[in-house]
Amino acid sequence: MILIGFMGSGKTTIAKALSDKLSIKSIDIDEAIINTYETTISSIFAEEGEAGFRKKEYAVLKQHIDKNINDNVVISTGGGVVTYENSLKSLRSQKNHNVYYLDAPFEVLYERIKGDTSRPLANQDEDKVKALFKNRQTLYHDAADYIINTEQEIPEIIKEILKYEN
Ligand code: S3P
Repeated sequence: MILIGFMGSGKTTIAKALSDKLSIKSIDIDEAIINTYETTISSIFAEEGEAGFRKKEYAVLKQHIDKNINDNVVISTGGGVVTYENSLKSLRSQKNHNVYYLDAPFEVLYERIKGDTSRPLANQDEDKVKALFKNRQTLYHDAADYIINTEQEIPEIIKEILKYEN
């Protein structure tokens, strides 16, 4: 299982819940980037810009997809992973994991992420964040096998995802 979706859509939370329920490993790509490069996401953005971050994100994503290709794991990604062609290709081309798009309206997501200084792309004018959200819609739909409405309780979300896993 691979979870994609905008910032604040609950990817990390849902991944942990799935991992607890199924007793499987959960891998958070943002966390793996922080551990691999021993720095923070904000520092990577500050030092190398978004382009530098996307390269690192792709390297870490590919490494984890390749390593776990035959394993039952849940991988949660960062919200912008679909904007980098190589990462998008990696998501599309692997066949062993379903890709779930965790969907929610912009207003709901923005309430959760506004002013979050650990997320450089959330910490800017609402109009800019909204533009990001709009521009990414097609990409999320392109990459996803299934679209999950996250405006429901966590156990319901888990149930819906597991319906597709059997
Ligand atoms: C980003 C989302 C973040 C993180 C980085 C960039 C984005 O992950 O990868 O700040 O471009 O939307 P979350 O979606 O887990 O917040």
